Amino acid sequence: MSEQSNKPESPSALAESDRRFLWHPFTQHAEWQESEPLVIASAEGAELIDSEGRRYLDGVASLWVGVHGHRHPKVDAAIKAQLDRVAHSTLLGLTNVPATRLAEKLIQMAPAPMSRVFYSDAGSTAVEIALKMAFQWQQQAGDAKRTRFARFEHAYHGDTLGAVSVGGIDIFHQVYGPLLFETVALPTPLHPDPATEAKLLQQALATLEAEGEALAAIIVEPLVQGAAGMRMHSPAYLNAILAKAKEVGALVILDEVATGFGRTGTLFAAEQLEVAPDLMCLGKGLSNGYLPLAATLASERIFQGFVGSPRKTFFHGHTFTGNPLACAAGVACLELFEEEQTLVGVAARARQLETGLKALSAHAHVAAHRQRGLMIGVDLCQGNGEAFDPRARTGARFCQSLRARGVVLRPLGDTVVLMPPLCVSEGQVVQLLEALKWGLEALEQEQ
Ligand SMILES: Cc1ncc(COP(=O)(O)O)c(C=O)c1O
Repeated sequence: MSEQSNKPESPSALAESDRRFLWHPFTQHAEWQESEPLVIASAEGAELIDSEGRRYLDGVASLWVGVHGHRHPKVDAAIKAQLDRVAHSTLLGLTNVPATRLAEKLIQMAPAPMSRVFYSDAGSTAVEIALKMAFQWQQQAGDAKRTRFARFEHAYHGDTLGAVSVGGIDIFHQVYGPLLFETVALPTPLHPDPATEAKLLQQALATLEAEGEALAAIIVEPLVQGAAGMRMHSPAYLNAILAKAKEVGALVILDEVATGFGRTGTLFAAEQLEVAPDLMCLGKGLSNGYLPLAATLASERIFQGFVGSPRKTFFHGHTFTGNPLACAAGVACLELFEEEQTLVGVAARARQLETGLKALSAHAHVAAHRQRGLMIGVDLCQGNGEAFDPRARTGARFCQSLRARGVVLRPLGDTVVLMPPLCVSEGQVVQLLEALKWGLEALEQEQ
């Protein structure tokens, strides 16, 4: 290694290079250019460490990917061992050891009737693949009229164009309107409130009845619509909609990119439902966020629809499909669920947060909060209960201020998202709750 590369980078020089050369995702650079970026230099467990050595609780699990924590010895070792064998080889015409082992393990742990694994490298690509599989399956089953997709209002399934077509967050998606295919939108509640759900359900069922013959599939984020601001519906609401979708001949795609790998309390949110999926999309926590890895799981019925003559082939694949390093990380991560009893910890931390949030919900600046497992949204409001003017960017400023209390958060509008890594400790949850309380009190003083 050269002397040059051993020199610690000065944080201000790094920030300068960032402002000069980088284009950040979902970021307005007119604002970014004015800000002092937090430079993450290392990490450990549920904590991020900046270039000055300050520690922060990773309160959104590095964009919802963290399960077992940063620099987990088992995941580190799995990747290092794989590096000594082969870093990448293609799954087009070849196979490899970690991709095969991970597929077998995933199917053992996934809900029935999932039986096949198709890899890609992002949640969005996992969704594209599920949409194309559903469409092609229907065509090959002789249902040429089934060309449309039903999806939830406010849905978020990623940023590639197919995923955007089945999305419903105007601020992200509206500009691309002319490029998108049309979909059938179904209503969803903000909170899983029975009276609201009963009303919306009638509307959703009537739409499915009317559009049923044209539907290839329905795609949903089960139980929690994360990017929409942690909107939540009940299992009963979703079961009724999925049962109707199946009745009218649509395939069921569960997008568990955010809810998968223990987030909602069970390994997959699908386990809390009565209606089984035909296809599932996985990403984020699959590799504990170490390497870009995603998977689309299919039932044997779907897979068999592609077996036969060459024209039935699923003509889709990405260069890094089944990357051995990423898959080796994935195998280690799945084994850890059993070895570390990860879901037992999730239940305990979810209960702790539930109690803490109940106390905080009385605060004048909390309009409401929603929680399923370790997926939480806290809606901020003015002292009189009214929403803040979105232009004030109160949620962003609130989260930014919590860095002084050693917590990194990223909001969705004025909804503060709490999604710590599943390995978060009891003491770290106390830190998170105390930081929130401090932030709310500071907000009160500011008003
Ligand atoms: C439910 C859901 N689907 C898909 C995606 C897209 O995943 P990626 O950002 O890895 O493309 C996300 C990302 O947040 C998501 O929450």
